[in-house]
Amino acid sequence: MTALSTRRFLQLAGITAAGLFLAACGKKEEPTPPPAPVASAPAPAPVKVYTVGTDAAYAPFESQNEKGEIVGFDIEVVKAIAAKAGFEVKFVNTPWEGIFNALGQGDRDMVVSAVTITEERKQTMDFSNPYFDAAQLIAVKEDSKVAKFGDLKKLKVGVQTGTTGDEAVTKLLGKNSTAIKRFESTPLALKELESGGVDAVVADNGVVVHYVANNPGGKFKTVSDPEFVPEQYGIAIKKGNAELLGLVNKGLADIKADGTYDKIYTQFFGAPPAAAAPASAASK
Ligand code: ARG
Repeated sequence: MTALSTRRFLQLAGITAAGLFLAACGKKEEPTPPPAPVASAPAPAPVKVYTVGTDAAYAPFESQNEKGEIVGFDIEVVKAIAAKAGFEVKFVNTPWEGIFNALGQGDRDMVVSAVTITEERKQTMDFSNPYFDAAQLIAVKEDSKVAKFGDLKKLKVGVQTGTTGDEAVTKLLGKNSTAIKRFESTPLALKELESGGVDAVVADNGVVVHYVANNPGGKFKTVSDPEFVPEQYGIAIKKGNAELLGLVNKGLADIKADGTYDKIYTQFFGAPPAAAAPASAASK
């Protein structure tokens, strides 16, 4: 080989080797070019937004303010739970009739609506741990002679369709009773009481007390009866969504532990909840 041809050979070989090197490197490096590490860094998991159904005609638990915003005790409780558990919520006003269907079909991830935990409902939905104690309460006109639940037997009684109040009155008056007037919301039933269309309304105590206090012109009074069984509200969650159920229960425990729950309770009901233990022990 001449000097020239050797150089030429090395040149050619070098080019080829470099070419091969580049090609090999190119292949290896292609998936991770300089900007790639940034692009392939794991993106923070997007915060989950859960859709919450609520029948916002149930003050002070859920209602709409003048601006059309959904507000109330239930709303604050769920917002606080979400903040603790690290998810976001979007409240959607959902009529009571059909609210559990929407949950079952997945149109809502959960329902917060002063929902009483019942064995029957547990068949088709999951419930968080209880977050509120309630009972039925009777609303009548100030001059009414009603003194106990049994006194409603011969009267016209208004209820919200499909509520535990409806259940109690249906049991007392009979399934086929025409004296039961069913309404799509509790305020509608109470308006009917004011205008004399019904003699009494049976609904959750918190809502009845709130309505009577805020409608002095209606000249209502309330009648309680120990015959009404104690009820507890739970957040209803689509059956089988164990992940969300766990998050909600964890968040609820956290807001009870750090005082947030009591703060919200006091904001809406004027005082923190009465200690549950002695009360339930005494009632046993
Ligand atoms: N606690 C009662 C029940 O579960 C009534 C709840 C009605 N809630 C409402 N937002 N309309 O049957």
